[in-house]
Amino acid sequence: MSGVVAPVLVGLMGSGKSSIGRRLARALELELIDLDEYIVDKAGMSIPAIFAAEGEEAFRDRETAALREVLGRPAVIATGGGAVMREENRQLLKAHPPVIWLKASPKFLARRIKGDSNRPLIAGGDVRKRLRALAKIRHPLYKECADFILPRADMSKDEAMVAILEFLANWPKRG
Ligand code: S3P
Repeated sequence: MSGVVAPVLVGLMGSGKSSIGRRLARALELELIDLDEYIVDKAGMSIPAIFAAEGEEAFRDRETAALREVLGRPAVIATGGGAVMREENRQLLKAHPPVIWLKASPKFLARRIKGDSNRPLIAGGDVRKRLRALAKIRHPLYKECADFILPRADMSKDEAMVAILEFLANWPKRG
């Protein structure tokens, strides 16, 4: 591949993968590929509709197929929060560094996504509790894939951007 750095963003729902991804793409003059949007466009259905009609496993199949299609493109890729759940996906992510984990607490995330009807995994329950359960399972998986961990809650979006761009300026790490 060319020498273009193509960062991949991972993290729980509400961590800002799409919005930080948009800014990052602008700063790096790259396209942003939002994996959820990519899946929705291909399926011609919203995410809740895919979950309702086909179930979560079918959504995950679509997610793996989409990852395979987009990883390696010269773009910033914002993944869905569950993209790290499958071992196969984690291998794919690790083969396409740099992977950046936007790390945030369930409390921070719950404030941002409460009442969001586009996220079937948190629909109609105690959002913070649900996020705590997801964090317990997924944090080790994000960590396993990540080349850089950004403590999202401690920073404004501008500060987050500075930290990511600084990391990317030294990527790939030498020696
Ligand atoms: C999911 C996160 C969503 C979307 C789907 C499942 C998850 O993406 O892929 O609702 O399993 O955490 P965002 O992280 O962009 O909300």
